[in-house]
Amino acid sequence: MKHVDGSMIDTNPTVSAEMAEELRQVIGPRSVLPQAALSTHTTFKVGGPADWLCLPETVSQLRDILSWINKVGTPWIVLGNGSNILFSDDGFRGVVIKIRGARPVDHTLWHLSHSGVQVRVGAGVGLARVASYCAEAGLTGMEWATGIPGVVGGAVRGNAGAHGWEMGDVINELEVLTSAGMLETLQRDSLSFRYRHSGLASDLLITGATLSLTEDDPSIIRRRIQEYTEQRKNTQPSADQSAGCMFKNPAGESAGRLIDIAGCKGVAVGGAMVSPLHGNFIVNRGGATSKDTLSLIDSIREKVRMETGVELELEVRVVGSI
Ligand code: EPU
Repeated sequence: MKHVDGSMIDTNPTVSAEMAEELRQVIGPRSVLPQAALSTHTTFKVGGPADWLCLPETVSQLRDILSWINKVGTPWIVLGNGSNILFSDDGFRGVVIKIRGARPVDHTLWHLSHSGVQVRVGAGVGLARVASYCAEAGLTGMEWATGIPGVVGGAVRGNAGAHGWEMGDVINELEVLTSAGMLETLQRDSLSFRYRHSGLASDLLITGATLSLTEDDPSIIRRRIQEYTEQRKNTQPSADQSAGCMFKNPAGESAGRLIDIAGCKGVAVGGAMVSPLHGNFIVNRGGATSKDTLSLIDSIREKVRMETGVELELEVRVVGSI
């Protein structure tokens, strides 16, 4: 079996139940789950089982998980809300660490507070929640994030954006955990954000961020949120199961427009279909597999290449075997 990048996958179990028990003793049995269906942890609802799913609430638990991972030597991956990722039908041989939190708690990966125009937010907080919190606090700069189904950590990592804004525009500081378990603070001037790219080393784990916003009238901020929400509802299949925009926009172009011109809207392979509303979304119309989706991606790329000469680059991260 091969990874999507062509390298061979080791299909042996990476972590035994005994090894996992060690971690369960440290962070609690309900936070370490075997054979977790990734389809239930991604917005596209595709993906087989992860060997182990870890659900940390605090930075200290995250540190314990990393130190255990270093000891057992297993592949691992961090998941936010699973909104920009396509997992293989075969799942993930290793440990998936999901940091998305359901409830705000102080001093956890899910904290959210502000002092003046500075907002401190944990990596596992959902973007929509950050946007509404900032609106209530009379702080502008996060309205664009209202309809994005991701969390802060993922949005920072991929420099998510919409409506002319990007995450990098508002970041003042980042809190990260190194693979050696050290907590570090990165200042804005040491970061190099560009379109859908944060420049952060792949082994750094984002635990939180401080955002620098601007004061504004809460009712004006709320109106802007409503406008963006309306715009998104009219132009994107927000109610459908998808992984968001599938491809990055080529410089000065919209990938969705190119896919539209190439006649791909409504084209389907199995359960995966190009949204008839917006060409850059592949929606799961029921029972889509990663094979369906990858085959549809190939065919979209081919048609766009033939029609427009443009080579589309994936925005969504594809993980696992083919
Ligand atoms: N268009 C078409 N046909 C389509 C889709 C778009 O002709 O099927 C045209 C639109 O009519 C418009 C232009 O293309 O004239 C741009 O479309 P849109 O405003 O929808 O923006 P986009 O470039 O397709 C980007 C981001 C979205 C973000 C929107 C709104 C990327 C890849 N996409 O889309 O982000 O929500 O702007 O700001 O950068 C994402 O990153 O996951 C994402 C959805």
